[in-house]
Amino acid sequence: MSAAKVRINHATKGIRILFHEPRIIDKDIKAYHVMYRINKYQFAEFKCQASLHKSNYAILINMQDKGIKYSPDFDFSEEYYILKELNHPQIPTASDFGQGELFRDGKFLIKQNFIVLQHIYGYDLVDYFFEKDVENTETIEEVVQAFISVCDPLQHLHNKHYVHCDLKPGHLILNQKTGLIHLIDFELAIKRGGIIKGISREYASPEQLQMLTYLKDLPRKVHYEALSSSIRLDGRTDLYSLGLIFYQIVTKKLWQTEKIPAGKVNTKIPQKLEEIIHGLLEGNVANRIPTAEELKKLLNNV
Ligand SMILES: Nc1ncnc2c1ncn2[C@@H]1O[C@H](COP(=O)(O)OP(=O)(O)O)[C@@H](O)[C@H]1O
Ligand SMILES: [Mg+2]
Repeated sequence: MSAAKVRINHATKGIRILFHEPRIIDKDIKAYHVMYRINKYQFAEFKCQASLHKSNYAILINMQDKGIKYSPDFDFSEEYYILKELNHPQIPTASDFGQGELFRDGKFLIKQNFIVLQHIYGYDLVDYFFEKDVENTETIEEVVQAFISVCDPLQHLHNKHYVHCDLKPGHLILNQKTGLIHLIDFELAIKRGGIIKGISREYASPEQLQMLTYLKDLPRKVHYEALSSSIRLDGRTDLYSLGLIFYQIVTKKLWQTEKIPAGKVNTKIPQKLEEIIHGLLEGNVANRIPTAEELKKLLNNV
């Protein structure tokens, strides 16, 4: 555990203690420079702030292994109820949600919507491999193992008739200790056959983009039923996004812009793996690898 940084100010001969890092005042209790609170949830540092993301996320300091995601604009009730229906070690549990007042050092700032989640320790999967040489058989084997691991929570989600709809870098977290990949951010998740709630264009499937176009073109009175029967989103939509992430990791390029077969970009990619990646990237849903279970089987045979 690191103590506070101590700096000596030679001009005043005084000692200033900078509390940028936690100062240990007790075995377990840390003191922080700035303290935030929403209801009973306390935090001091942010893992993520809303400039890059839609919401803020911080690890709680008064509850173990929990984090709070909050935003003044977005409501997290749907994410909470979806997470309550799921029960998988690679999907965070949710313990609370609602509205609360955000306090900074005891001063009221603004009302927030929040959700309290199981905190997932680890790295963003894409960042993790970005720093590695992927033109290397061992690393490719490691990537394959990671994607085998993704199949489990994904299959669980799909078995519960949900579609994540927002698989992209940042939403797959690798726990290096266990080697397991965790799925996060279920804000855009929908029931199979439902209407999209939003979209991350770069990682969306052709069906999602098609639905978006329909939604935009439809007159104010949207005939949702007609739309959801003409475009039925299911687990295969997530498998397409997974294909985009897979391609990006093993080639360090974007399929979205390159459209070069994975094995041509990285010659260390085995033929079978290339077929799997392009089996996920099938534009026509009917020809795509149909389930996470099937994907897992195929990957185990690479
Ligand atoms: N359960 C969690 N465990 C660890 N980090 C999380 C968790 N939930 C969110 N985060 C972090 O906060 C960021 C933003 O959260 P996310 O759920 O993606 O919301 P949004 O993209 O809507 O802002 C994530 O990219 C991740 O870094
Ligand atoms: Mg997100």
